[in-house]
Amino acid sequence: MALVTTKEMFKKAYEGHYAIGAFNINDMEIIQGVVNACKEKKSPVILQVSSSAIKFAGAKYLKNMVDAAVADTGIDIALHLDHGANFEQVKYAIENGFTSVMIDGSHYDYEENVRVTKEVVEYAHARGVVVEAELGQLAGVEDEVSVEHSTYTDPEQAVDFVNRTGIDSLAIAIGTSHGAYKFKGEAKLEFHILESVQEKLPGFPIVLHGASAVDPKYVELCNTFGGDIEGAQGVPADMLRKAASMAVCKINMDTDLRLAMTAALRKFFGENPKEFDPRKFMGAARTTIQDLVEYKLTDVLGSANSL
Ligand code: G3H
Ligand code: 13P
Ligand code: ZN
Repeated sequence: MALVTTKEMFKKAYEGHYAIGAFNINDMEIIQGVVNACKEKKSPVILQVSSSAIKFAGAKYLKNMVDAAVADTGIDIALHLDHGANFEQVKYAIENGFTSVMIDGSHYDYEENVRVTKEVVEYAHARGVVVEAELGQLAGVEDEVSVEHSTYTDPEQAVDFVNRTGIDSLAIAIGTSHGAYKFKGEAKLEFHILESVQEKLPGFPIVLHGASAVDPKYVELCNTFGGDIEGAQGVPADMLRKAASMAVCKINMDTDLRLAMTAALRKFFGENPKEFDPRKFMGAARTTIQDLVEYKLTDVLGSANSL
């Protein structure tokens, strides 16, 4: 078994009206929590790595741990660069064995986004690596991309962008945002944009960033055990299910893992003030991540039993 690209995963997901979970990884316990859940639920998965994660853990450590996860679980895993900011970051990820990369040129003007993305596609495809790019801007803070307000994706421009760049999947902006504070009032996504993109690009895989649900259960657990997280709100699960049943084949989640891990650690230390064995507290964090991911696979993404 080796790492795979997202090609087959997306084809099956599109036809089966479900989505593949793309979970951000930063250390061994997160990787194990995610892949153990996927093995249990017989689901393929995308493990994605941001440039900050590479700075934190190192590309080689992450790649080797993901290889170990493939060998240990036998499930289909794609290793993806999340929010590659430039050609150099993409090249580095590919040199380190990633099977999928994102080039996020959404902060450039349109023509520059096309140019940078095309350059990445030529390089990646020549090496058997698939490419995700982004059109439109999410509100909130992206890796090295900061925007006050979102700019929704223009469906006509999406068609032109896909045709001119040759990308394998496209991240669109329909109202989601990164982090734990996604909506001030009622949660709302512009599904008509997704419908229009799907209609104009039939069969083409769409990606949803900023798609954590921010489950109040974990926020409350954090706050019960000394945290101070107020006003957090994510994308409701029914909206994610709807997107997954449409052209959305990849749903990105990082914040949910962070909250679950923090909740597990705060609870552990709150209830066990005398403990200082990392295997115990990191073990609790890993189990909580596994529970969360199992729920996502079965109740949100619909990718369980698709291996
Ligand atoms: O979209 C961004 C991801 O949540 C990664 O965040 O750069 O803090 O690792 P990070
Ligand atoms: P969340 O902050 O909603 O988890 O989004 C993560 C993401 O889009 C990573 O690229
Ligand atoms: Zn993102």
